[in-house]
Amino acid sequence: MKILEESIELVRNSVNIVDVVGQYVQLRKKGKNFWGVCPFHNEKTPSFSVHAEKQIFHCFGCHAGGNVFKFLMDYKKISYPEAIEELAHDIGIQLKYEQSQNIERQSENELLLDFNQEVARLFFDVLYNEPEAQNARDYFASRKLKKATMRSFGLGYAPASRSFLTEKYAGNQQKLDMALTLGLTGKNDNGSYYDRFSGRIIFPIFSPNGRVIGFGGRIMEKRENTGKYLNSPESPIYHKGRVLYGLSHAKDEIRKLDWALLVEGYMDLLSLHQNGIKNVIAVSGTALTDEQVALLSRYTKNVRLLFDADEAGIKASMRSVEILLKRQMNIKIASLPSGEDPDSYINAHSPDEFMEQLDRAVGFLEFQFGFYKKTGKLDDPVTGTEIIRELLKPVALIDDELQRAMYLNSLSEKFNLRGKLLEDELKEIINRNMRTEKQAAIQSAPVFVPGTQRTAIKKEEKQFQNPMEKELIKLLFENEKAIIALINKYIRDDEFTYPPHQKFLEIVFSKFHEDEDISVSSILDNIQDENLSEYLTSLAFEPYAISDEWEKLYPTPSKRESLVRAAIDTIVKFKNIQIDQELKGLNEELKEEKDINKQVEILNHVKDLQDSKKSIKEMLEKNFSRLIEE
Ligand code: UTP
Ligand code: MN
Repeated sequence: MKILEESIELVRNSVNIVDVVGQYVQLRKKGKNFWGVCPFHNEKTPSFSVHAEKQIFHCFGCHAGGNVFKFLMDYKKISYPEAIEELAHDIGIQLKYEQSQNIERQSENELLLDFNQEVARLFFDVLYNEPEAQNARDYFASRKLKKATMRSFGLGYAPASRSFLTEKYAGNQQKLDMALTLGLTGKNDNGSYYDRFSGRIIFPIFSPNGRVIGFGGRIMEKRENTGKYLNSPESPIYHKGRVLYGLSHAKDEIRKLDWALLVEGYMDLLSLHQNGIKNVIAVSGTALTDEQVALLSRYTKNVRLLFDADEAGIKASMRSVEILLKRQMNIKIASLPSGEDPDSYINAHSPDEFMEQLDRAVGFLEFQFGFYKKTGKLDDPVTGTEIIRELLKPVALIDDELQRAMYLNSLSEKFNLRGKLLEDELKEIINRNMRTEKQAAIQSAPVFVPGTQRTAIKKEEKQFQNPMEKELIKLLFENEKAIIALINKYIRDDEFTYPPHQKFLEIVFSKFHEDEDISVSSILDNIQDENLSEYLTSLAFEPYAISDEWEKLYPTPSKRESLVRAAIDTIVKFKNIQIDQELKGLNEELKEEKDINKQVEILNHVKDLQDSKKSIKEMLEKNFSRLIEE
């Protein structure tokens, strides 16, 4: 159910972000703000700051940022409503929920999640209580899974009958429909339902928050024409490309150790987990996706890959490397003796021995080089050149120049090649990548791409043409009605040249017209795009570019007075820059223009623009005294 806006506002206004963050991060006051060591990335000197007045936080190192809800969401890996609920609970506020139909979508997913939970419980109970599950119990025992592990991961057994669920929910159309939506059942040609997981041991798949979003089911003995595993199909709550199996159980340990071990299978993960290696996640039968890496990167930037030592496993890890590098993850690759997988290895050896294998993990370049070396292709000049190019490809994905240089060095040593040669080749690849990226960007014409890396905004930032846009946004953050009114009166959102700025202005103006809360911390709740909200938060922590000037002019003004002054100055500058750009265009036109009449026309236009520069300033100056008195 959706929490009412008024309740959200009440919670937001009742807590102090400094107190909330202070429970998890040691904060020290320095100037107006509080500072601490960022909990979202590894650092020694504090670059994490909390703005008490604006009730937002921002890390100058990793660009994490937002309001108090965002902090809890990121810190505890919980959803927006969960963050609100937690704070409300802490301060004893009774939340009110929306009752209307426009929440149907959300509550439908909620119903599906509840139903999945119910079915998982059913399979779990069958495994423990039903005589027919004896072979499943024996099977788990033979795989050396302990009761505690099985309980913790909710493992179960789906009865062999193909009508178990259908009979269970006979007469309850809603649940029968949900079972079909979730792929727990299928539909025969004659319209009757059948169970899809029947006779399989069941591995519930959890969201990072521990909700059951899908299932994996394994047959216990080899059967012709039947896949060993059956997984839930895509559904409103299950998107396999976005799921990392075991993350809900591993996330705390991953954050604590600051690295994650990535394996291939359910059984691998469970065996490692019960042997005390808990920072494990599994990709479960799909190639690693960018979305999975994005998810993981919220917990750590350091990954060790442990894939089967067979050729398929090696190929899979090479593909994964590129996807991980694109998100600037640090990668090491470990391998096990051939024929072993993590599950078989840990059960035949001790956890210590397993860790020793992991300690032997090598960098991706080392690993790939080793692989190609074994194939013998390196010795042949033709295939050798191809391989060098192949090895440079992942290097080109690394943003950090120094790191890239180090990889280049190691490559030039390995191949006994001049560094310059490799460098040129690398540059060529990087340029090619940029060209394709650009092309892709043009083709999909994104105004502002959600979900791209944080650096995306930084790069784009240079592209907006009027630097005063940023200054105006900072002024809007001050939560002064007079200023918003002023900016609203003189500037339209489409006058901003940078789409994220436009978007923000749009939200502020619409809230202003609706007479809603216009504090930054409240506005941030209206922005789903994490890049945009983090970018805007970072602006709130920037000093004013022009404050020096107006503080010199008006040495001891009230805060309100200073702000109005600054707003007026900034609007004037914004308009002047706009006009200057237009004038520049007209001058160019004038140079090209041969027709004397047209030249006069242009000159008139120039004159008009120059006049309007003056009149805008005068007009706004007049506003000043009026606004100060109000
Ligand atoms: P594995 O064959 O390595 O499975 O496939 P496993 O987890 O080690 O299981 P055991 O040891 O044979 O019991 C790795 C992963 O690939 C997915 C599963 O998620 C599995 O855990 N997979 C495999 C499928 O989705 N379908 C299949 O038919 C096989
Ligand atoms: Mn296995």
